[in-house]
Formats: sequence, structure tokens, C-alpha cells
Amino acid sequence: NSLKTYTVLVSDKMSEVGLAPLEARNDIDIVKENIHETTVDLTTIDALLIRSATKVTEEVLCKLPNLKIIGRAGVGVDNIDIEASTKRGIAVINAPEGNTISTAEHTFSMLCSLARNIPQAHASMCDGKWERSSFQGMELRGKTLAIIGYGRIGSELATRAKAFQMDVIVYDPYLNQRLADKHGITIVSFQEAIENGDIITVHTPLTNETKGMISYDAFKKMKPTTRILNCARGGIIDENALIEAIEKQQIAGAALDVFTEEPLKDERLTQSDRIITTPHIAASTKEAQENVASQVANEALNYLDGEPAINA
Ligand code: MLT
Repeated sequence: NSLKTYTVLVSDKMSEVGLAPLEARNDIDIVKENIHETTVDLTTIDALLIRSATKVTEEVLCKLPNLKIIGRAGVGVDNIDIEASTKRGIAVINAPEGNTISTAEHTFSMLCSLARNIPQAHASMCDGKWERSSFQGMELRGKTLAIIGYGRIGSELATRAKAFQMDVIVYDPYLNQRLADKHGITIVSFQEAIENGDIITVHTPLTNETKGMISYDAFKKMKPTTRILNCARGGIIDENALIEAIEKQQIAGAALDVFTEEPLKDERLTQSDRIITTPHIAASTKEAQENVASQVANEALNYLDGEPAINA
């Protein structure tokens, strides 16, 4: 049989429904094993599908001489050495839209939890206590939400905040006035965003410009009642600066879904009762995972079939 077969390595856990188009093809061998643990001959791999756990470094790429495409089932491609991939002629695609709503919904859930101390109150009840006066919260109506980064997720968050009658201010150097008017939001400088936000939330990728952008200096300019969220990428908020800001009561609280090092090792971030955390699950819904897995599976298939890569 002369049928050319391709081997696709799925190195992180991905939705079965999303992978169905690959499974349906008899010219595709699909291997669902971690790249560092699999016994499959890595030189036979044509396509690599990943989420955020697998780090595609130059060293990893050296082991994959036949690799043609890397599909990231999600938005952030900061776990892939793009330059080294490009040098080898390997296409890198992502799924930029499939988890937008889930991520915005998770961020808004964290925002509400932060405003009303829900995780802390639940933990206290699990300890058998009934501490009604310890968990006084903050109403959202009329408060200012500062969104840093107004892409797909940032703008979905604005829609939800406006439904809660919050005022939305946005810092994003790429945002134009027409869109701001259409969405009923106010464009501000970075300085104004951090000084005026009752709640501040970051929705940028992790780049050289955004790494550590919420710094010691930024925290000093915030109000002592400010709460901050990061459901985007670990490292946008300087974690040491955050811990100091919480300890010195420069801000009132923080909610984090992402961390500089994942899985999280820095216990200081889970020991404060003013920091609430989740283990990078903003995109972990059935819907989002089906969306992103099927998007990258279909695109990887098309690419192996000779079509151009779309979300490259
Ligand atoms: C993303 O970049 O899409 C999210 O962080 C979800 C993930 O890492 O899988």
C-alpha cells in the first residue's frame, strides 16, 4: 500500500471530540503521549499538537527532524521557540478564538470572587466556622475596571463588566477611538489605568514589553483598595512586587490563574488570604477545549495535505 502516512504526536491532554478529524483519517498515525515519555521514534513525527505544558525548545526541535507543523491548542505561543521553529521551516499555528469566552468568563468569576471573598468564605465554612463579619465585600456597580490589553478577551470582559454597571477604562496602545466609542469604554494611559482602576485586569500576551509591566513602581501608584487580576500569562505581574504590595497593603487583593512558573512552586502566592488562585484553568471548559483542539487538528491536517497554514 503506497498511502503516505503521517504521524501526529499529541503531547498534552486534548479534547477527544476535537481530535476526531485526525482519528477519522486512515493515513494518520496519532500518538497521544508526552513527548518526553513516548517510546515512538521521534524522527517520524510530522506534526506536534500541544497545549501549554509541553515546552518546545530548540533542544526538543533537534529531536524532531521531520517535523512540519506545531499546533498550539490555545492562544499563547510563549512555550514555543518560534525563531528556532521558523529557522527549520516548521509552521507554528495556534487557535486564537476558541477559548475567548471561557477565559473571559473565568476572569469575571475570579473578579466576583475577589470582590466578595467567596473562596475565603467557603474555606472558612469548610473549617466549621460561621464568620459573617470577616468577609465584607465590595459592590461592583459604579466601580472602575481597568483593562490592560483590549484584544478578544479584554473586550469580552468589558461587555460583562458593563452588564454589572461598572465603568470601563482601557490601556491598549493599539486601540482606536472609534472602537472605544462603539464599546462605551474610555481609553487611558497606563499610568491612569493603574492609578484609577478599582479592579485592574491584564489581558496581553507575554512579550518583552509586557513582562513585569505590573512592577513595584506600578503597585505604588495603585489605591490601597485596588484588586488586581492575572488570567493571561504568568510574569506580566511581577510576583515579588505583588507579594510586597499585598504585605505592605498597597493593594487589597489579587486573583491569579497563571504564574511565572507552572505548576506553581512559590508558596507565598497561596499563603496570603488576600490572594486567590486557580491552576491555569481559565480555558478549561468542555466547549473551549473542543474548539481549540478541533481548530488545530483541522489546520494541521490541511497543512499536511498541502494547504497553507491559516493561524500561523
Ligand atoms: C491559552 O493560551 O490558550 C491558555 O492559556 C490556555 C492554555 O494554556 O491551554
